[in-house]
Amino acid sequence: MMRPPGHPISVSEFEADVRAGLSKPGQKELYSKYFYDDLGSALFEAITLLPEYGLTRADLRLLREHAHELPERAGYPSVVVELGSGSGDKAREIIPYLAAGHPITYCPIDLSGAALSRCQRDLDDIRNIKIVPIEDSYVEGLASASKFRKPGGAILALFLGSSIGNFEPPVAQAFLSTVRENLQPGDVFLLSADLVKPFDRMLAGYNDSLGLTSAFNLNLLARINRELGASFDLNKFQHEARYNESEQRIEMHLRSRTEQTISVNGNFTVELQEGETIWTESSYKFLPDQVRAIAEPAGFRCEIQWVDSEWPFAQSLLRVR
Ligand SMILES: C[S@@+](CC[C@H](N)C(=O)[O-])C[C@H]1O[C@@H](n2cnc3c(N)ncnc32)[C@H](O)[C@@H]1O
Repeated sequence: MMRPPGHPISVSEFEADVRAGLSKPGQKELYSKYFYDDLGSALFEAITLLPEYGLTRADLRLLREHAHELPERAGYPSVVVELGSGSGDKAREIIPYLAAGHPITYCPIDLSGAALSRCQRDLDDIRNIKIVPIEDSYVEGLASASKFRKPGGAILALFLGSSIGNFEPPVAQAFLSTVRENLQPGDVFLLSADLVKPFDRMLAGYNDSLGLTSAFNLNLLARINRELGASFDLNKFQHEARYNESEQRIEMHLRSRTEQTISVNGNFTVELQEGETIWTESSYKFLPDQVRAIAEPAGFRCEIQWVDSEWPFAQSLLRVR
């Protein structure tokens, strides 16, 4: 597995991000990318199986319906790069169509080493592919993966699930421009996005009755305890998911049940008032036109959008202009 120097989840960077996020004046926050340690990745995999969480099934349904069109629409790329691949279940629906008769290099990129190991193990039986897992963040990983491009060969980049919705809109726009800068004319980018739907359907996916999303959210504090020696008592926090209509996003928070002081390994302390929250994730929801509206200024042309009929969800096939 490729581990470039300066791997993003160094303890010092994790601690600096936790310290900065929890000492912010006003709303305290933590980056959602830190959800995915080994336990967090396993919890996410379980969440995707929940009846309330329709998003992963919608993404898979669209791939099962349309992945066979990819060779005609995207040609036969020499490299498939998946940003935030997780366990790679979705790539399994795509790669066999592309690898039939055309050997390809598949580069799953993820911060989670556990997810990448599962991905490598589960996709190893597909013929004609070489798997090169890259344990790094999206953009650095894409830059490393593009070195595997064959002369004259194209890249197909995948950004599936609803990870684009974890960025604030201007950051999403800047991210797409950076992805574009790392691609070349002729390359193709398949971008998934969860769409706006009735509030109760959207919220149920983040407030499941088994409490898996609550465990996933609280595991962020547990991870800070494990890796940074902090003293969070998880019983003193409550998972909360809410829909912010004007911003078109689900927000996940951890609400402090009491006034408390937490020490992070004696290096710094965090004061929380009773009822105060730590904001852990945003999941922006889109209208189909809004996906095109952020992709086109970034230098892509939207060739086609596929929308699931059961769970409003879109995949946009974007061609580099
Ligand atoms: C919500 S999961 C989605 C997994 C998969 N793409 C899917 O659609 O089911 C997000 C994945 O992206 C990874 N991830 C989150 N932030 C990342 C970052 N900045 N760079 C690379 N991977 C990241 C996580 O470790 C996790 O495996």
